[in-house]
Amino acid sequence: MTEAAGQFITPVTMQALSQRPVYGSQWDARADNNMLHINLSREADACLIAPASADFMAKLAQGRADDLLSLLCLARPRQTVPLLLAPAMNREMWSHPATQRNMAQLRADGATVLGVGQGDQACGETGDGRMLEPQELLDDLVAFFQPKSLMGQQVLITAGPTYEAIDPVRGITNLSSGKMGFAIARAAREAGAEVTLVAGPVSLATPRGVRRVDVRSARDMQAAVAQQVDAATVFIACAAVADWRPAVAADQKIKKDGSGQAPELDFVENPDILAAVAQSARALSRALYCVGFAAESQDLLANAQAKRTRKGVPLLVGNIGPATFGQDDNALLLVDEAGALELPHNSKLALARQLIANIARRIRAGGQNDGH
Ligand code: CTP
Repeated sequence: MTEAAGQFITPVTMQALSQRPVYGSQWDARADNNMLHINLSREADACLIAPASADFMAKLAQGRADDLLSLLCLARPRQTVPLLLAPAMNREMWSHPATQRNMAQLRADGATVLGVGQGDQACGETGDGRMLEPQELLDDLVAFFQPKSLMGQQVLITAGPTYEAIDPVRGITNLSSGKMGFAIARAAREAGAEVTLVAGPVSLATPRGVRRVDVRSARDMQAAVAQQVDAATVFIACAAVADWRPAVAADQKIKKDGSGQAPELDFVENPDILAAVAQSARALSRALYCVGFAAESQDLLANAQAKRTRKGVPLLVGNIGPATFGQDDNALLLVDEAGALELPHNSKLALARQLIANIARRIRAGGQNDGH
């Protein structure tokens, strides 16, 4: 903790909450070699300064080292211990050319500046300069350490169920929670890709740095995908798109008519978004790597293989729908032209990262979007 940090909370509070020793002075007698700045910076995997004040960043930009924290930042082995900064300050201080200049210098010196949040500030003003939320900082720190295997790629992902209206108050949908698709979006972003997520109706938080387009029906999803797909280099269709929709959605709520007879509903098939995207990319010889999902209830391998050919995609990911919908974990079967690879039971995020690494390898190996 710097001296300024001690004005906000005490070292005792910090120690009690973190259950870790707190250091404030380079002369702390607990270090028997008087080399705290060396000891601490050698045992770290990374240094994250949160919050990083305008003053502290100015100090770092100048390479000054008059307290333990700035000293250990300067003394750290730069090749192995990255420095990340989570700025926090008043909006005027944030936008000041001096602060921006210092940040540019810190970036040029190899630091990663994580950005700031927007909203109410401690001083009562509103604007840019809030420290990111702790969970966001943790997500950014974790993302920092993921291999950047999809750098330069534009990834378009569909996720969640679709909802097909019967009338203004009712509809049909399915049990997809969207968790797998959202985990894939997060993993793709962590891997360095620009990610657009077209999401059906789910109540999940948007992963950090991911652009999200919310849709409701299969046809909304198809329209959103059509709008985004030209910019994409990878398309991952993870959504559980409703296969059918009511042929007509009633304008008014359908009422019981007292006869005891249920209304008859006619269904029509929805457009197959994945098959259409894959087919159009092939027709235009576009370099778009398409990945499909199959939520099956049995015979996973045979169904996934057949579906891969039918959809015309190089890679199809099978999972057992009823076993995974709504859960935080899953198991995947990656099916391609050559055979199948099992990704055993794990959290959806761990599986998403493995899947992204696998897709990245296929793209690097020059995988063509040819499912046939
Ligand atoms: N999919 C799609 N558009 C649809 C239906 C499915 O884009 N109208 C995509 C899904 O996102 C998924 C893959 O196609 O990537 C497989 O979806 P699934 O519903 O499991 O397959 P179906 O084509 O419906 O085949 P089946 O009826 O045999 O289950």
